[in-house]
Amino acid sequence: MTSVAILQAESAARRPSPRRFVMCRPDHFDVTYSINPWMNPDEPVDRCLAIEQWETLRATYEEYGHKVDVVPGLPGLPDMVFAANGGLIVGERAMSARFTHPERAAEGPAYHRRFAELGLAGVVGAEELNEGEGDFLLVGDRLLAGMGFRCSLAAHEEVSRHFALPVVSLELVDPRFYHLDTVLLPLDSRTVAYYPPAFSRAARAILADLYPDAILATDADAAVLGLNGVCDGFNVFLSSSATELSEALRARGYNPVGIEMSELLKAGGSVKCCTLEIH
Ligand code: ARG
Repeated sequence: MTSVAILQAESAARRPSPRRFVMCRPDHFDVTYSINPWMNPDEPVDRCLAIEQWETLRATYEEYGHKVDVVPGLPGLPDMVFAANGGLIVGERAMSARFTHPERAAEGPAYHRRFAELGLAGVVGAEELNEGEGDFLLVGDRLLAGMGFRCSLAAHEEVSRHFALPVVSLELVDPRFYHLDTVLLPLDSRTVAYYPPAFSRAARAILADLYPDAILATDADAAVLGLNGVCDGFNVFLSSSATELSEALRARGYNPVGIEMSELLKAGGSVKCCTLEIH
């Protein structure tokens, strides 16, 4: 088969599989500090609108057959809505996060307790700075791991040991894209979409080698955090502003499902940031 024929056959074979997600309602969402270039505490935030957008995301997941566990947010932790940062959960193993910035530090223990309440056994707390699925993305049987802003090689090693999984370290170079999940979207066990300019030259070479069929996102997609999405094998939940990426996904046999995330974008987060997957 030619490579075009292989891509066509793969497109036709895409199927969604039911997922289990953890989300945290933005009842205390706000932008009161700035720990990434998207956050401007002088710009007003409409919390009601943020809750509406978040509720739409949650309802959409459920409509598509996914299970959502909601953990309560805590006052004084305006970024806790970004559940992806709470930890990493793969099979029987789980690790709760240890945050870089003091503003978010209390979220680590909070998520740790929530994981236990969700019935996850044997949760350990990260020793190294580690913001969970923000920087660790499972693709097939390996973890892709971001570093440079919130996470270090030592954290990658700790995760690799704990989960007994190979970790591929990828250096991030653009402060707007401080977590791996802002510029890389796992699509299936063998394919991802990503935004090359956000990565160091060495990381770009690794990605090109691992994923020759990857979808490469445009500047416009990256500028609305379009890659901060979630794929269930067929449906791709992503910001409704990521129009070029949606087109590219459709052309490859995926079903893009756009969600308006403008209010959460003010804190530098979108669909994936609000979603922690229990793998
Ligand atoms: N304001 C939050 C921070 O800077 C946003 C986190 C977004 N989460 C993510 N998984 N990328 O930490």
